[in-house]
Amino acid sequence: MFMKKYEDDYLKSLNDSEGFWMEQADQIKWFVKPEKGLSKDENGFYRWFKGGKLNTSYLMLDYHVENGRGDQPGLIYESPVSYTNKIFTYREMLDETSRIAGMLKGLGVEKGDTVILYMPMIPEVVFSMMACARLGAVHSVVFGGFAANELALRIDDAKPKVLLTASGGIEIARVIQYKPIVDEALDLAQFKIESVVVWQRPFATASLQEGRDHHWQELIKKAEPASWVEVDATDPLYILYTSGTTGKPKGIIRDNGGHAVAMKYSMDWIYKVDPGEVYWAASDVGWVVGHSYIVYAPLIQGCTTILYEGKPVKTPDAGTFWKIIQDHKVSVLFTAPTAIRAIKKDDPEGKKHVIYNNSTLRYLFLAGERCDVATYNWAKEVLEIDIIDHWWQSESGWPMISCSLGYGTVPVKPGSATLPVCGFDIRILDEKGEECAPNVEGAVVIKLPLPPGCLPTLWNNNKRFVDSYLSQYEGYYLAGDGGYKDEDGYIFITGRTDDVINVAGHRLSTADIEEVVASHPDIAECAVVGIEDEFKGHIPVGFVVLKEGVHSTEEELERELIRMVRKTVGPVANFKQASVVKKLPKTRSGKILRKTMRFIADGKDFSMPSTIEDPVVLEDLKIVMRDKSIGKAFQP
Ligand code: COA
Ligand code: AMP
Repeated sequence: MFMKKYEDDYLKSLNDSEGFWMEQADQIKWFVKPEKGLSKDENGFYRWFKGGKLNTSYLMLDYHVENGRGDQPGLIYESPVSYTNKIFTYREMLDETSRIAGMLKGLGVEKGDTVILYMPMIPEVVFSMMACARLGAVHSVVFGGFAANELALRIDDAKPKVLLTASGGIEIARVIQYKPIVDEALDLAQFKIESVVVWQRPFATASLQEGRDHHWQELIKKAEPASWVEVDATDPLYILYTSGTTGKPKGIIRDNGGHAVAMKYSMDWIYKVDPGEVYWAASDVGWVVGHSYIVYAPLIQGCTTILYEGKPVKTPDAGTFWKIIQDHKVSVLFTAPTAIRAIKKDDPEGKKHVIYNNSTLRYLFLAGERCDVATYNWAKEVLEIDIIDHWWQSESGWPMISCSLGYGTVPVKPGSATLPVCGFDIRILDEKGEECAPNVEGAVVIKLPLPPGCLPTLWNNNKRFVDSYLSQYEGYYLAGDGGYKDEDGYIFITGRTDDVINVAGHRLSTADIEEVVASHPDIAECAVVGIEDEFKGHIPVGFVVLKEGVHSTEEELERELIRMVRKTVGPVANFKQASVVKKLPKTRSGKILRKTMRFIADGKDFSMPSTIEDPVVLEDLKIVMRDKSIGKAFQP
């Protein structure tokens, strides 16, 4: 049964994509229905639902209040780190959001303006995202684990009128003061922001700069609630910066119309969650998973979403997820494999799980990185439900490969994210652009057009959009991952083919970290490579060649580099190891053989590159890795 309906819909979504998505568009409320499904804009890029008019915050709030969900919980805030929990109904969310929209309006924010949110996981971040959407303003949420320099890069690119922040966050038991980071970023940025609004939390008080900074709780008292404005389907809803292969992040644009349709489709057909059910994405609003599945999709669907300010372990223990599922009767949980590995590490036998009643939980969805088979098996054994590994990216905004539960279930093959989602014509291509035979690895690409919800282009950078995604294989979107299809069409993602790495479910660029390491005055040249890590998936490790006459010890230098990366990129980079080597392995034309270095650390087979300048350098590198126990291959 699954296969028949799925196959029919999948084929229709490729062969008559306009017809398929126009039908899906009927599932949301438009102020003006779109004239067309698919069109091309003035740059020749595909756009969805031109002519349609809507408001995303209306769909998430007003629509539900108008249709009898006003008293239903919309958001449950669970914060073990601040010993707080609170439930907001849809009506209360509408009120909070309208008042924040009014506050922003009072600061001059209008349709098309940008607003940066650098905030911890508190309800105000969700209300602020919706408040921006309400005004037709474009938000850009920056993950709290990024340092001032990363925030400054995003400020200069997005040029926001207002920056919203809070006085602090809590990492397990450590208070992180946000305002000094914001102040430093504002000093570093070329672009000058007119207004900064700070939500003062009880455990951290931020100092405010007269004329620029505002005390949120005070300012909002004077705000008049603001209603929604009509926006075009193709107007931007948000920018989400993500790591590419250079130090400069890419601003993924999400539009309003395609995104709303894709979010709704995904809740019905992939996650199969009904309005009124409790859906929990245990992630952070700073990442795409948080945007789509903490905020937008569950609220468009009329579900109750959970905003969790804590970790899977230590807040207070490895039973925290299971307790929340029990307390709030969660139907579907979504998290990263690394979070499950953290729980497994602290509670290998799942003893904390049996304490709680998790009978409401139907499915666990995993994404953000490859799900290793051991983690998959552990979760399946402990939870005794279906575990669904699904693949997607910041660029897509929603899953591209998954078991789409609305069609029923298919047998799972651990290690595979299963089958393509409707709308995604996924192919595996070799270097010449030919399709690979079954079980042969190649580049994962998607035949254009991409379905609704995916990035139409990059913020202020059409050229980089084309160069990064469209230029390698004409007519296809290049995902940046490697993978293969088996004879049943199941797709296995094997990992990134570029310098992007996933560290504990956080997407980072090794080039970004490398830039910081290279800026140290003692370093002649360096390479930062992402090597496999049993717990965090990957971690970045540095190899550095010193300038002549440097006297600091290797330990001193390593400490200094770790401090620099933490300060410039952020603690989330997890940069904890840097080793001095005499030379870096290179090709005769001077290209550093980073992939070969990675393969050596991971203990993978590789053939000696024919272009290598000096093979002895690799032998020296192995000795350094062995001496410092770097990489899986050299663990004692
Ligand atoms: N603000 C400030 N610092 C932060 C931060 C934030 N929002 N998030 C992380 N950090 C810090 C951590 O405190 C840690 O600091 P430390 O080096 O001083 O210990 C550092 O950044 C590294 O963080 P992380 O890699 O997240 O390690 P962790 O041990 O704190 O937590 C996990 C490990 C697995 C529990 C956590 O990474 C996790 O839940 N990952 C899932 C991510 C996710 O949801 N991704 C989205 C795809 S679903
Ligand atoms: P992000 O943009 O942060 O969502 O990261 C996207 C990247 O994470 C992808 O390009 C993949 O490399 C990786 N990824 C996400 N989900 C999966 C998955 N289910 N299996 C393998 N890799 C994944």
